[in-house]
Amino acid sequence: MKVDLDAYDRDGFLVLRDFLPSADCDALQARAAELVAGFDPGPARTVFSTRDQGHARDAYFLGSGGAVGFFFEEAAAGQPVAVALNKIGHALHDLDPVFDRISRQSRLAGLAAAVGLQQPLLLQSMYLFKQPHIGGEVGWHQDATYLYTRPSSVTGFWIALDDADRDNGCLMVLPGGHRGTLRKRFRRAVAGMVLDTLDETSWPAITPVALEAPRGTLVVLHGLLPHASAANRSARPRHAYALHLIDGRAEYAADNWLQRPHLPLRGFS
Ligand code: FE2
Repeated sequence: MKVDLDAYDRDGFLVLRDFLPSADCDALQARAAELVAGFDPGPARTVFSTRDQGHARDAYFLGSGGAVGFFFEEAAAGQPVAVALNKIGHALHDLDPVFDRISRQSRLAGLAAAVGLQQPLLLQSMYLFKQPHIGGEVGWHQDATYLYTRPSSVTGFWIALDDADRDNGCLMVLPGGHRGTLRKRFRRAVAGMVLDTLDETSWPAITPVALEAPRGTLVVLHGLLPHASAANRSARPRHAYALHLIDGRAEYAADNWLQRPHLPLRGFS
């Protein structure tokens, strides 16, 4: 597969329209709906929000690195599960056969090789709902904050399963911002999860660019690229599937939140 590596090196992202076949988008959405239908949250709903570090103490969150966990929107109190979830994560690609098949198709393997992952490992998968009206914002961050390797290798494949635009919370990026340093690190510590500041440097003074993405578009995100997404205040959903890969040649930090003691990481085979 050929991609514009000059653009990727310059900008820290690539927007690949019509990457995932419509049938695969359909299959992921249908399977997610089945998983939701089969999910009984019981009395304790687990709220996940990147702005609320309260989740950091939550064993459910930590265990989801090797499981299929369900996370609610903050603003969804009392709403039915089907319209209240923020995401499903983080090992769908290893534990669910539909997500496994689509995540490990040859087009994705080819893309991973094309962007320089020599020993790609599929580390994390998330089905992101960004529900109509209540889908929360995701603040500016670098994915290497959460998935840290030495050297940095985490690479995001973000796939629009609905048309994503400014009104329903499409991705926002700071082009070229991946050439800066890693600012923060989220890690396990004795007392729980902590967010360390590694570098106080503010984000570069670059005008954010909205990556409007029709269904089936795949966005490659460099692990150091600052990105965000606004809340969804529209009446339309903005489902997306995000897969994060690392290079097996890099050292995976033992204090990353995501640990897989019982489920070895796999590549594309
Ligand atoms: Fe991210």
